[in-house]
Amino acid sequence: MLQTALHFSHTLLKEVIKEGDSVVDATMGNGNDTAFLAELVGTKGDVYAFDVQEQALTATAKKLTDANLTKQVQLFHQGHETIETVLAKETLITAAIFNLGYLPKSDKTIITTPDTTKQALDALLPRLIPKGRIVLVVYYGHDGGEAELELVQEYCQNLPQEHYSVLTYQFINQRNNPPILFCIEKK
Ligand SMILES: C[S@@+](CC[C@H](N)C(=O)[O-])C[C@H]1O[C@@H](n2cnc3c(N)ncnc32)[C@H](O)[C@@H]1O
Repeated sequence: MLQTALHFSHTLLKEVIKEGDSVVDATMGNGNDTAFLAELVGTKGDVYAFDVQEQALTATAKKLTDANLTKQVQLFHQGHETIETVLAKETLITAAIFNLGYLPKSDKTIITTPDTTKQALDALLPRLIPKGRIVLVVYYGHDGGEAELELVQEYCQNLPQEHYSVLTYQFINQRNNPPILFCIEKK
């Protein structure tokens, strides 16, 4: 069976992340990706996870504690547009994941936005190691979602082919705006 965009995002991350690596979860939410990344990098690695909502940090902290994965993770109660203020100058990353949209079963007006997503991408790309990947899963069915999809699409299309490979993955015959995945790989 074909993988959902969410499932495929994990496949793409798993292919490149090794124990001891540094990685970013740009939109922690309930912590599913944060926990997944924490398992991949192990206790010698580093996961930097961001969210603007207190409830995301609470849910993620609980998930990590239950799974004994707290050691390698730092949770930041701040937007991913501030990544540059958190990562040390010399820190390089193997991968980053963005799940763009709103926190499921929560306030639908607290959404990621084109401006802050662009700022985060601008900060992460120079830190990406060769063969490193940034994966974005874009939900766009809500108010404001289309603008974000447009930004991501345009941003990705304009990345120079000499330095980056970019793919999209989407189901094109599904109802209800299924998420669209973008993966940027540094050459
Ligand atoms: C689709 S959810 C993420 C789901 C998450 N990956 C999970 O496993 O549950 C999007 C999240 O982005 C968060 N968010 C909104 N603006 C943000 C920003 N500027 N920086 C970081 N996170 C932000 C929202 O609070 C929400 O929790």
